[in-house]
Formats: sequence, structure tokens, C-alpha cells
Amino acid sequence: MEYDIKDAALAAEGKRRIEWAERDMPVVRSIQERFEKEKPFAGKTLATVLHVTAETANLVRALKVGGAQVFLAASNPLSTQDDVAAALVKEYEIPTFAIKGESKEVFFSHIEKLIAQKPQLTMDDGADLVSTVHKSHAELLPQMIGGTEETTTGVIRLRAMARDGALKIPIVAVNDAKTKNLFDNRYGTGQSTLDGIIRATDMLIAGKTVVIAGYGWCGRGLAMRAKGMGAGVIVTEIDPVKALEAAMDGFFVTTMDNAARVGDLFCTVTGNKDIIVERHFKTMKDSAIVCNAGHFDVEINIDDLKKVASGPAREVRDFVQEYMVGKNRIYLLAEGRLVNLAAAEGHPASVMDMSFATQALACEWLTKEKLPPGVHDVPEAIENGIAGLKLASMGISIDELTPEQKKYLESWQEGT
Ligand SMILES: NC(=O)c1ccc[n+]([C@@H]2O[C@H](COP(=O)([O-])OP(=O)(O)OC[C@H]3O[C@@H](n4cnc5c(N)ncnc54)[C@H](O)[C@@H]3O)[C@@H](O)[C@H]2O)c1
Repeated sequence: MEYDIKDAALAAEGKRRIEWAERDMPVVRSIQERFEKEKPFAGKTLATVLHVTAETANLVRALKVGGAQVFLAASNPLSTQDDVAAALVKEYEIPTFAIKGESKEVFFSHIEKLIAQKPQLTMDDGADLVSTVHKSHAELLPQMIGGTEETTTGVIRLRAMARDGALKIPIVAVNDAKTKNLFDNRYGTGQSTLDGIIRATDMLIAGKTVVIAGYGWCGRGLAMRAKGMGAGVIVTEIDPVKALEAAMDGFFVTTMDNAARVGDLFCTVTGNKDIIVERHFKTMKDSAIVCNAGHFDVEINIDDLKKVASGPAREVRDFVQEYMVGKNRIYLLAEGRLVNLAAAEGHPASVMDMSFATQALACEWLTKEKLPPGVHDVPEAIENGIAGLKLASMGISIDELTPEQKKYLESWQEGT
């Protein structure tokens, strides 16, 4: 079996971590049990490019049990848990190509390894796999069934491809499912981003001015959690409705130009580029900490930071680089990559349970339906099924519509 991991000797530790996560993933577990009987992916090759974490390990195990020949590569050069990668290869015999800290060249060579398997199905987090297939291996497209996409940035890229008529296969936008973004983006990113920042810096959040760029699902979760820990939170936005929402949620809303002067901690979660640039670094306070939780490392312009800095960065702690800008120290976390995955363990398993249940069922749906090329939403029945399973696992029961209520909601005759 071909693979590329850091150290196979880490497998035992990785297995423990995977089993610990599995405890908190009852929905994926129940899907795995059904997949074991029904084998929905029998005879299919499935290439997955995801953050290589303990939660992902449980997803790919379920897909393998469902009959797929599964291959896994990292969706980010810094997010791989090397012990998990080792366990996937040694304990679960899943060919894995991922090394934490791999170069961009190695990252793409790993994606090429997966493409060489001629997958019929893909699972992406950021659309690097699907866009590479379209750009460099278009000959594979006719035999492909389609794929799924995990994150906002990936869905944006795929919709842009579809608009240009460039997307030749169907993709299910798992990110856009409520069972994904309401929970993973909001509560997962909210908690794990702070977790990454705290692990990297050991800073106290209470009393700090935290600047959050972007008030989408991730930004909302992060702002809510930072406020809960005692920070004064400033939000920057470009969307007037989101800005208004942030203001009415009780946050101070202003431009990055204004916020740059007063923030102690900056975190970008916009999915856009150049949120923090040269002029911002120049006005930041001494000891300002800058990090990103958006998908790509383009939100903080690191070239600009290097340009205004008086010398090279000094590694002062793991994942913390110190730049001198004039007399001020600016600290960049995790090289501007997803701080929650680079400096911590990503989202807790309990929330990934829902995202990955959505992935597994969306992929099954894709194999059953013959969907046309384009970006497709996850069917509501799948979302409701996952929410129902999660509620059951949490011991929560809810009311059911009575026939009269159902009729009332569907009619227009009854009124005042
Ligand atoms: N770290 C993680 O684990 C994790 C998890 C989920 C999503 N993501 C990524 O986080 C990013 C945000 O995801 P989301 O679901 O919150 O997206 P979203 O589209 O819901 O929100 C993004 C927000 O950023 C705002 N924005 C865009 N340009 C801006 C600018 N120049 N200044 C200020 N605000 C700006 C948009 O108006 C929008 O409100 C994406 O890249 C996504 O892929 C990361």
C-alpha cells in the first residue's frame, strides 16, 4: 500500500485519539453500522482531501466500511495530525498522504497521488482536488460520479466554476447544509479558534480587545465566544446587513483601519483576501496578535508584514512568530493558516459528527441519484434525519405536528 506520512510509529497514539473522537460521534457511528450492511459504495474509488484529524479518520473509516476504496490527503499543509495519519495507514489500512508542515509542492503531489487512483467520487475541503482534476486531468471527468464540498470557500470556488460553465461534474455543497454551517462553522469554529489561540499564546482573553473580521457563520460563533470569555469585541464587515446584525448583537462595528489601532488580538474569518495589510500593521499596538481562521492563508497579507518588519521573524513559541514593526512587536500565529487546526485540534468531535454525517449521506445520495453537473444542495430529508439522530443521541425529544396543525400550516383559509 502506497502512503506518505511522517512516522508510522505514532500509530498507537493516533488510534487512541481516533477512538476518543469516535465516542463523541454517535451519528457517524450509526451511519457506519448501516453502511456495513448496505455497502453503498461497493466498487467505488473515493478520493478524500480533508483535514487529517481524528474526526476525519472516523468518517473515512465509515466510508471504507461502506465498500469504498478510500484514499486520503490533507486539505491544508498545517492541519494534519501526524499520529492520526499513521493510525489510518497502520491500523485501518487507509492509504493516507499527509504530513504536518508539508510544503506546497508536497501538498499538491499528495493530491496527485489521489488523482492517480482515478476516483469516481471526491470529497473536498476547499475544492483543491476538484479544481486540480478540472485543470490538469480533465480526461478523468467523464467517468466521475461527482463529489462533495466541506467548506464555504470551496463552495464559493465551485459556484464560480459552475457560473463559468467550467464545472463538469455534480458537487453537493455539504457546507451549505444547516446541519453543517449552523453548528460546525458557528459553534465549532467559535470554540476551536479560541482554543488554538489560547494553546498557541496562553493569553487571557478577558479584558482584551478582540477584532473579528467577517460576521458570517464562523465570525458570529467566534464573536459570541470571545464576548463570553470577557473580551471587548470589535467586528469588521463589508456586508451592511451582517454589520447591522453584529451591531444589534452588541458588538462594536467599525472599519479595519479604525480597529487596527486598538485591537489586542485580530482574527480574520472572511474567506476573502487582504483583510489585514501593510497600513494596518503599521498602526497596530505593541504586542498585537494576528491570526486567521478562514480557509486560505490569504486573509492576512504576510508579504506586507514581512515588508514592514525590520528583520526576519523570530519563533518565540510553537506557532508564534514575532515581527518587529518599528518599535512594536507583532505576533503572527500559525503562519496565517487556520489557527484552530494548526495550533489546536480543529473542531470538537461532537460537532464534526454532524458535518461528517452530512458528508457521508450526501456522498451516498450522489451515488444513488444521477445528478447533472453543477452545485447541488443537500436534500432537506437528509438534514432532518441527521438532526433527528443527533437529538436522539443527546437524549432530547421534541414535539410532533398534530394532523390538525399540519393541515393548518398548509392551508390559507383560516385567519383572524
Ligand atoms: N477554521 C475552520 O475550521 C473553518 C470552518 C468553517 C469554515 N471556515 C472558513 O472560514 C471562512 C468563513 O466562513 P463562513 O462560513 O463564516 O463564511 P460566510 O460567507 O458566512 O462569512 C464570511 C463573512 O465575511 C465577510 N467579508 C468578506 N470580505 C470581507 C472584508 N473585506 N472585510 C470584512 N468582512 C468581509 C462577508 O460579508 C461575510 O459576512 C471561509 O473561508 C470558510 O471556508 C473555516
